[in-house]
Amino acid sequence: MKIFDRKKELNTFTLKKREKDNTIGLVPTMGALHSGHLSLVNKALLENDLVIVSIFVNPTQFDKKNDLDKYPRTFNKDIELLRQLSDNIVVFAPTVDEIYEGNVVSQNYEFDGLDKVMEGKFRSGHFDGVGTIVELFLRTVAPDRAYFGEKDFQQLQIIRKMVEIKNLPYTIIGCPIEREPHGLAMSSRNERLSKNTREQASFIYTTLKAAKAEFGTNSAITITDWVKSEFENHPLFDLEYFEIAEEITLTPVLKIQDNQKYRAFIAVYADGVRLIDNIRLN
Ligand code: PAF
Repeated sequence: MKIFDRKKELNTFTLKKREKDNTIGLVPTMGALHSGHLSLVNKALLENDLVIVSIFVNPTQFDKKNDLDKYPRTFNKDIELLRQLSDNIVVFAPTVDEIYEGNVVSQNYEFDGLDKVMEGKFRSGHFDGVGTIVELFLRTVAPDRAYFGEKDFQQLQIIRKMVEIKNLPYTIIGCPIEREPHGLAMSSRNERLSKNTREQASFIYTTLKAAKAEFGTNSAITITDWVKSEFENHPLFDLEYFEIAEEITLTPVLKIQDNQKYRAFIAVYADGVRLIDNIRLN
């Protein structure tokens, strides 16, 4: 399997593939691959001749140094997993220096307010960091399609917005959330949970499903208050936010409209680890 660590070399390689009419899928990751990532790679393999998987823990999207330091790094295992999947995968694993060339800062983006709510409110500068790295990967690889998981639904909508605003000719594809057997949304961060917390964390998804069952019968405020009280009574989890928002604009719902799509979004701390999840409501 080819592993590139230089932007220029990867760019030359993908250009040559394109000249031969090969289609290219891009799956950006921060490594510590799990079956959620592999489902993105598998979808990309089905829809493209070649798939580029980037493995890069992007420092500018972390608002806390501690979180960046503790982010799991399992490079050799990741490569092995990808090698077993297909011969049509190429890895891009650059260093921080190669990407940021000595200036580890993000660009400033205008995301039409999508970055001002939920994750954006609690993780200052996070989406500028995501925009910076995703734009660089998109421009370097010039894929036909790029794949992102719906677990980070706000990120997915923000990347779609960036591509629209910058007029970038790449199709952004959102893929459904993969879950652990107990229901916890798959995330590289789950590795940092104790066995007990990881099992108990099914509570997050169970609560989301219960909120969905109430949607349409009870108001958004009533559901939100109920979710808050459920978490106040739970010894293991600290709720950071629970928000019911419209899918495209991500604005919190005040009055439910028939022709709109809504999702419930949640961020929770467990064992000092921040977990996010969401569910489509209608
Ligand atoms: O979702 C992630 O893992 C990251 O935010 C991404 C898209 C790879 C950018 O670093």
